[in-house]
Amino acid sequence: MAGFFRRSIAAKLSETLHQTEEAFVPALSAVPVLRKRQTADFRLSLGALRGEGTLPQSEDILLQAQRLATQLKRDTVVEEITADGGEVHFKVHRDLLVQKLLEAFGRGEDEKFGFNSELFHSLKRGTTLVEYSSPNIAKKFHAGHLRSTIIGNFIANLKRCLGHNVIRMNYLGDWGMQFGLLGAGFGQFGCQDKLTQNPLQHLFEVYVQVNKEAEHNDELKQSARDFFLRMEQNESRAMSLWQQFRDITVKEYRHVYERLGMQFDIYSGESCHRGDAQEVVQQLQSRGLLKTSESGTGVVDLSPDGDMSSVCTLLRSDGTTLYITRDVAAAIDRKEKYDFDEMIYVTDKNQENHFHQLFQILHAMGHSWSDRCRHVPFGLIRGMKTRSGEVVFLEDVLDEARARMLRNMSQAKTTKEMVDPEDTAEKVGISALIVQDFKGPLQADYNFNWDRMLQAQGDTGVFLQYTHARLCSLIQKNEGLEAATFDASAVEQTGISILQHLLRYDEVLYMSAQDLQPRHLVNFLLKLSHLVASAHRELPVKGSPPSVAQTRLLLFSGARSVLVSGMRILGITPVDKM
Ligand code: ARG
Repeated sequence: MAGFFRRSIAAKLSETLHQTEEAFVPALSAVPVLRKRQTADFRLSLGALRGEGTLPQSEDILLQAQRLATQLKRDTVVEEITADGGEVHFKVHRDLLVQKLLEAFGRGEDEKFGFNSELFHSLKRGTTLVEYSSPNIAKKFHAGHLRSTIIGNFIANLKRCLGHNVIRMNYLGDWGMQFGLLGAGFGQFGCQDKLTQNPLQHLFEVYVQVNKEAEHNDELKQSARDFFLRMEQNESRAMSLWQQFRDITVKEYRHVYERLGMQFDIYSGESCHRGDAQEVVQQLQSRGLLKTSESGTGVVDLSPDGDMSSVCTLLRSDGTTLYITRDVAAAIDRKEKYDFDEMIYVTDKNQENHFHQLFQILHAMGHSWSDRCRHVPFGLIRGMKTRSGEVVFLEDVLDEARARMLRNMSQAKTTKEMVDPEDTAEKVGISALIVQDFKGPLQADYNFNWDRMLQAQGDTGVFLQYTHARLCSLIQKNEGLEAATFDASAVEQTGISILQHLLRYDEVLYMSAQDLQPRHLVNFLLKLSHLVASAHRELPVKGSPPSVAQTRLLLFSGARSVLVSGMRILGITPVDKM
């Protein structure tokens, strides 16, 4: 919808300045609502146009803006044109603004609101492979995995909404010495019953125990090495135990991801590339890229001057491959299988160098698509603890969020009317986790804080859910209300602010699609919720004349639709009651 106004303004500019409309569209944006009484709806950045060569740089930018503001004619769309620093501001006719937006909501176009924008026309849509979550079997599911899970899901959702074909992949840490230890020690420390009852917990316990025991038990150490060797040789007894561990782990994880409302298309893992990793080594060798280091390992020289000042090890001296070797093999295999147009890896920033090297190696091997691979790094979470102590499993965090939310909710009277308060508490708890995580730049570390993130007031996921539930109840209470006439003045300045804010939705999505940062969207939705809170106070529906009530109701329902759309992209399931 913002597109209609952007295009009208661009047409006007095109007429006056004799350039194509397209030249102006990227420099036009909706003005963020900062003040309560903000008049301008759109702004044109002359700086951007001068940079592009659309406007001459020779003239003073302030004078240029003033001249343009007087030159441009008001018309049926634009009511006021003013210069503001190096920008020209446009105020749209109020009736038209209200009518255009509310009519779209009234026609039931809310779901698509923002997505058909011309801003997305230039985006190359294709297949995007997003690899995220990727925990390690038998090891801890740490805070970093939680972040990877929710960030990856957000990226996949966003790409999907913008029309990409998305493949969601989980790349498990399902190969390596931990299985040697588990295989060697399971007979002694493991128990099949416990394994079926509580697989993740039990595997982790056994793993910790065997590790401890192996510290002073050389025999156990040796049999762990033997067991892993048997796995590497594909010996069937060893492999069937490994397979059992992998299968039950995947089954458990599927269940936990379901609680988060997500699903993976593919459960891949390091084990899938144990064979082709050796092929990668051979290819590197035959291309003359693999050098032998002084200690006998196989390395690739990544230094700019070819003086081995920066190398990456791909082969141990005993001939076994490493994490990075398997990643090279995995990337090539994915390109062959899925022919992706872009591939995105989501892990903490400690692996930044790893992925940088991975892309360099792929490039050196002649895979030009390596420049369409991208690593999205994120910072660390400090102090993520549950009541029982350190977090070991994702499920513990979800349980704790649910329990705490349920306790907070128990004071509200609406909780008693709920069909399934646990389910509501779960969804609201998860939104609190997500919003806390997404509010800042992904690269930044942050302190985990249960109390702060679960506050009902303030910029939290609980506040978003609360806003949504309140809108639902308002809409539900007024169901069937219909008025033939429409009263644009009924939205008043408070409603205008909401509409001005909604005009930015496509730009916000566009920004997030560019830098893959969820904070633009989170902050947009939080701001929307604050504006809606004012509207609840100032624009009553009940008791107003039918046309006023109807107009306001459309405004609220439009706001709700955009809230829902944004929440879903973030990975939040909106609740109707809380
Ligand atoms: N399993 C790894 C870890 O826990 C993350 C895997 C990231 N993805 C990759 N292709 N290397 O650290």
